Amino acid sequence: MQQRRKPPPAAAPVAAKQPAPRRTPGPLSFAGALLSLLLVATFLYINDHDVSKLHADFPLAAGARARARSPDLRLLQEAAHRKVNSIVVSRHVPTPTRSSTSTTPPPSSHPKLDQQPLRLIDTPMSSSSSSGRKQAALVMMGNSGGGGGESEQAASVKLKGCDLYKGRWVYDAAGREAPLYRESECEFLTEQVTCMRNGRRDESYQRWRWQPEGCELPRFEARALLDRLRNKRMMFVGDSLNRNQWESMVCLVQSAIPHGQKTLTKFVNNGSLNVFRAHEYNATVEFYWAPFLVQSNSDDPQVHSVRDRVIAWRAIARHAANWKGVHYLVFNTYIWWLNTFHIKVLKSRSAPFGGRGWSSRYALVDRPIAYREVLKTWAKWVDRRIDPNKTTVFFMAMSPNHITPEAWGGSAEAVKCAMETQPIVNRTWGLDIGTDWRLHGVARGVLRSMRRVAVRFVDITALSELRKDAHTSVHTLRQGKLLTPDQQADPRTYADCIHWCLPGLPDTWNHFLYAHIVAHAA
Ligand SMILES: *[C@@H]1O[C@H](CO)[C@@H](O)[C@H](O)[C@H]1NC(C)=O
Ligand SMILES: *[C@@H]1O[C@H](CO)[C@@H](O)[C@H](O)[C@H]1NC(C)=O
Ligand SMILES: *[C@@H]1O[C@H](CO)[C@@H](O)[C@H](O)[C@H]1NC(C)=O
Ligand SMILES: *[C@@H]1O[C@H](CO)[C@@H](O)[C@H](O)[C@H]1NC(C)=O
Repeated sequence: MQQRRKPPPAAAPVAAKQPAPRRTPGPLSFAGALLSLLLVATFLYINDHDVSKLHADFPLAAGARARARSPDLRLLQEAAHRKVNSIVVSRHVPTPTRSSTSTTPPPSSHPKLDQQPLRLIDTPMSSSSSSGRKQAALVMMGNSGGGGGESEQAASVKLKGCDLYKGRWVYDAAGREAPLYRESECEFLTEQVTCMRNGRRDESYQRWRWQPEGCELPRFEARALLDRLRNKRMMFVGDSLNRNQWESMVCLVQSAIPHGQKTLTKFVNNGSLNVFRAHEYNATVEFYWAPFLVQSNSDDPQVHSVRDRVIAWRAIARHAANWKGVHYLVFNTYIWWLNTFHIKVLKSRSAPFGGRGWSSRYALVDRPIAYREVLKTWAKWVDRRIDPNKTTVFFMAMSPNHITPEAWGGSAEAVKCAMETQPIVNRTWGLDIGTDWRLHGVARGVLRSMRRVAVRFVDITALSELRKDAHTSVHTLRQGKLLTPDQQADPRTYADCIHWCLPGLPDTWNHFLYAHIVAHAA
């Protein structure tokens, strides 16, 4: 895979002409960034359907040839599991500072190319600021129609002004509050995420619950959520991480629905849509594939290529037609942006991806600039077409990867996330695991600029960065097939440190949605 590092050509779309402040990376960090790009590129596809077509398109990462046997993973995991069960780890997570400081460099001693905050945002948006509260209050107006019970109102009072995303992970040894469901109890889980069934031995990753500082997450009640969803549609729109979260949401609500009154239909509407239906409630929880939100040549949910991706940054109508009339929209886009520093943007505004030769008519645009233009296209659509009295809109912050153990002080034998059985407990030294915080800042900036619709930014990034233990790693699929024992023994090549086991971390993300929808969190 080649990295294109040329500046965008003069004919690039307008925004590309804006200077992107960027520091020269040191040689070490540049190599690190390249490595993570490569690894990200390799693992995006693993559960995409009909992957046989993709096989030739995605040769294995460079590590495939220099295959090294790791120590017995299972023994390590079991030992670590015993250890984690005997302690209760809970550490304070400071609010991420990098996202909100656009002038000071990140605390890391060797800043990575990918992590320089772009000076696109003027003032940091604090979720506890008065403007943040005002935004939230706007959304609440639209949703307070249904009569809230007494306990619900109490919860809402307690949550007001609380930053749900600031807090710590607490180990729930007894499993009283985590996990919220059992792997074996959710028939809708795909093999991609059933880590225990796929051979993982340490279960502790399921038992961490998020404790916000200064308030409690309201207890998750599937019925309360289903009551809100009655005669309504909820739709997750985005990439495979959002699909990961959609699967979690399906499992979270399905427990309250008797057998025979729920169905899941995949690949509706030419494959882009998966629909879970709770018949008694006349409610749906849906997933719509649009990895860039705008149109791209990767919109086929079954045949697509990260390496060859090209986006049309003003074209959204064809996707958005499928989002109209939905009552709860949950958007994300991040992972598909990572594996090159520049994004190919189609120059022609009309008729994207049709006819011959379109693929050569693109400009290379710096990642955060293209990201901002795409989100502006999306925001414009939301502001014009969404009725804020009818629809609540969420934007999920970036889901982080764990590919470089040296970033969290992993042992010398550590390979990607494969040996990890505990969250990162020590965040006091500037944690730098390769998250592109520039995109985080861009997203916050664009959301803040919206005039009519207050979109909630579900800021899961910093708290998820701590969860190096929660990825599917080698307990998952590749090319649609469960990894063989040989492949499992070779995490350097095969560990997926992008997607997450279920039950697991995405349940907490959905718990935040729940807090907003049911308990009116600020
Ligand atoms: C079922 O839900 C849809 C929206 O998802 C709504 O348009 C329709 O009116 C509902 N049906 C009934 C009988 O309420
Ligand atoms: C489904 O795909 C076919 C072939 O690509 C296309 O002609 C048709 O318009 C698509 N239908 C929808 C609903 O997008
Ligand atoms: C939402 O409802 C309120 C109160 O009914 C109304 O004043 C407002 O104009 C509505 N907003 C939109 C965008 O329709
Ligand atoms: C946390 O990191 C700091 C700085 O690297 C170190 O001094 C401290 O011992 C660490 N604490 C724990 C509990 O690992």
